Amino acid sequence: MQTKMIQEGSTKIIVPILDKETNYPPSSAPVFYNPRMELCRDLSVACVAAFAGKRNSYVDALGATGIRGVRIANEVGLDVAINDWSSQAHELIKKNIELNRLSAKALRKNASVLLSESHFDIVDIDPFGSPAPFIDAACRSVSKMLCITATDTAPLCGAHKASGIRKYGAIPLKTEYHPEMGVRILLGAIARNLARYDKSLAPLLSYAMEHYFRVYLAVEKGAAKSNEMTRQVGFICHCFGCGFRSWKYGLAAHMPEKCPSCAERISLAGPLWLGRLHDRKFCNLVLDELESRKLGTRKRAMRLVRLCAEELEIPTYYDQHTICKELKINPPPIETFIEMLHEAGFQASRTHFSGTSFKTDAPLGEIEKILCR
Ligand SMILES: C[S@@+](CC[C@H](N)C(=O)[O-])C[C@H]1O[C@@H](n2cnc3c(N)ncnc32)[C@H](O)[C@@H]1O
Ligand SMILES: [Zn+2]
Repeated sequence: MQTKMIQEGSTKIIVPILDKETNYPPSSAPVFYNPRMELCRDLSVACVAAFAGKRNSYVDALGATGIRGVRIANEVGLDVAINDWSSQAHELIKKNIELNRLSAKALRKNASVLLSESHFDIVDIDPFGSPAPFIDAACRSVSKMLCITATDTAPLCGAHKASGIRKYGAIPLKTEYHPEMGVRILLGAIARNLARYDKSLAPLLSYAMEHYFRVYLAVEKGAAKSNEMTRQVGFICHCFGCGFRSWKYGLAAHMPEKCPSCAERISLAGPLWLGRLHDRKFCNLVLDELESRKLGTRKRAMRLVRLCAEELEIPTYYDQHTICKELKINPPPIETFIEMLHEAGFQASRTHFSGTSFKTDAPLGEIEKILCR
């Protein structure tokens, strides 16, 4: 394997050379390495630092080059274990730990076995594709924080519906807010799995970007909190005729069969997470961490976290361009339109999910009236 040394954050890492002709995409390199995930890793450093005291244990259960775990050990200073079952990855992880003179542990186990037999305060699952095969073991292992990446966005968003149903035990729908649908299906599956162990989650930061979703969740043990959490799982009713949507909490929710607005048949998505996606206080701590660190993607990361912090806690969003196309009008600038919604007495915010979209408590009819003014 041909390698080179790079620096990300303040950490030096040996990575495979990605020959664009033979080793692209990153998964075809002997050891997985994706330079495009730098922002995701910068945010990992900031989020784990914002959450954790130095005595916490952290495991990067699917380490590859070890880049994520080595950065957490070096830049946050936690007690880190980095695991990968591939022998080539394991050797590279050991080299990268040595290179940075760290006392992190390199492990070579099946991640599901490792997580089933050991407890970690913070568990990071960053797989190639779906995290579904590792969710149960991660929920069993974790005591304080779960960090999970999913790159199987098509099954989660409803574009590959049957696969989404198989992997996550829930029905995803391909709506105009499909990335949010995907994040909520993922969170719903994690919440139901944590409940098996009398644990609960509270989302700290959950985002969709490019080809992946990433969630940071505070985890607690306790049946009462776990019961409270399961009440935030429910269903979204969506009308593909007129764009109407509503949501119901609970696993035995009664749904309308017909759209109250246009009488077409209602479609159902879920069970999925209907609670908040981010914790504003935590986002502000992450912004402080980003601000004070030397990171390659700092500006973009801060922009993303600011947008997340400002998002309304409403489970769906509207795409302004889709509505304007339907109404055959030109869309006003999104900030102006949000101001118009505020002036009409509604709550409204932008969303990180899409630059042309907004969240609001205004019903669709009112949104259309305001747009046509
Ligand atoms: C997408 S890569 C991880 C990327 C890494 N976290 C990063 O930030 O660059 C996934 C890794 O998981 C490893 N892997 C896949 N299934 C595994 C399993 N069941 N147990 C342990 N490692 C596994 C693969 O060898 C691969 O190196
Ligand atoms: Zn309708």
